[in-house]
Amino acid sequence: MCLIATNSELHELMREWRKDIHAHPETAYEEHRTAEKVAELLRSFDLQVHTGMAVTGVVATLKGDLPGSYCIGLRADIDALNLQELNSFAHKSRHQGKMHACGHDGHTSMLLGAAKYLSEHRNFAGTVVFIFQPAEEGEAGAKMMLDEGLFKQFNVDAIYGMHNWPGLAQGKFVVHSGPVMASMDLFDITISGQGCHGGMPHLGTDPIMVAGQLISALQSIVSRNVDPLHSAVVSITQMHGGEAYNVIPDSVTLSGTCRAFSEEQRVQIHSQMTQIVTNICAAFGATGELDYRSVAPSTVNHPQNTKICSDVISQLVGDQNLLLEEAPSMGSEDFAFMLLEKPGAYIWIGNGSMEGGKGLHNPHYDFNDQVLALGANYWIALTQDQLV
Ligand code: NI
Repeated sequence: MCLIATNSELHELMREWRKDIHAHPETAYEEHRTAEKVAELLRSFDLQVHTGMAVTGVVATLKGDLPGSYCIGLRADIDALNLQELNSFAHKSRHQGKMHACGHDGHTSMLLGAAKYLSEHRNFAGTVVFIFQPAEEGEAGAKMMLDEGLFKQFNVDAIYGMHNWPGLAQGKFVVHSGPVMASMDLFDITISGQGCHGGMPHLGTDPIMVAGQLISALQSIVSRNVDPLHSAVVSITQMHGGEAYNVIPDSVTLSGTCRAFSEEQRVQIHSQMTQIVTNICAAFGATGELDYRSVAPSTVNHPQNTKICSDVISQLVGDQNLLLEEAPSMGSEDFAFMLLEKPGAYIWIGNGSMEGGKGLHNPHYDFNDQVLALGANYWIALTQDQLV
């Protein structure tokens, strides 16, 4: 298939865009420079561009030259992370404490590359909607775009997403049937006891001791309540309480995250956690308050679109470069919200080795520019396959 050749002029352009975006990372709903750059480029490709959805989201449409009413949405995320970059190359972050450590700079550039190519090769029937989404990192930008009418204004028949995957060799793709990424919920538990002198614990109710019991008890949710053939995680990631050697504090807070692959599992974890918090605290004369918040559901591919993506990839790179049996990830992704409203699929593209800290959300990470043409070619091939 002769689309964008590796190291061609367009590949070089994508590399330039990517490095520029990498050097100027912006986080949730503050991606103003990025959104402006994206919108400007899309306009220069002669696309219809809409800005300002979910504050900094950009949506552009491109109609093919052939008659057709089918419409597909292609989505890239544009935001960076709150993380101090530790790389020293020329395109390293110029914004203190912010970094493109998840490769959304690459995702944005690949989708821009596909938009440029397709605007110059409109031999397809129907419409492509290019969606540049802000605030993917824990801030549910996808949901805000949907709440602001993304699919009412741009009524796509199917929606597709892609993420780079460190540890997966360059040139390879992974397509999952069913769940790809886990749901993400966050929780804060406040344990209230009664503070007292550290040498006279019998005069109070020690919330630190209760926190210890609770931490152990919460680990029974996955080991004793969740079906052993299913996967789930309950992680306590923060613990705060006390400020003196000789004072038992009034309260302690525990915070963390839960992951699962189905709604049933999420409900079960939440309900079990409520019971454990209430009853363990009560058993020791303390009170426990649980604040449990849903951030994103599990990202679940639709069967017909899974098949479409695998067929397109197999034609693009051959069956030997298409992995269909990889385990899903316990990471989460707000593209899940889009898949609840429209049929579609979310795939992984190999970013190469993770050696030297090249994993996602690592301060040494960098998107692999060698795969820019391949990623854009996937978008183009998918469009040409679906809009006929
Ligand atoms: Ni990401």
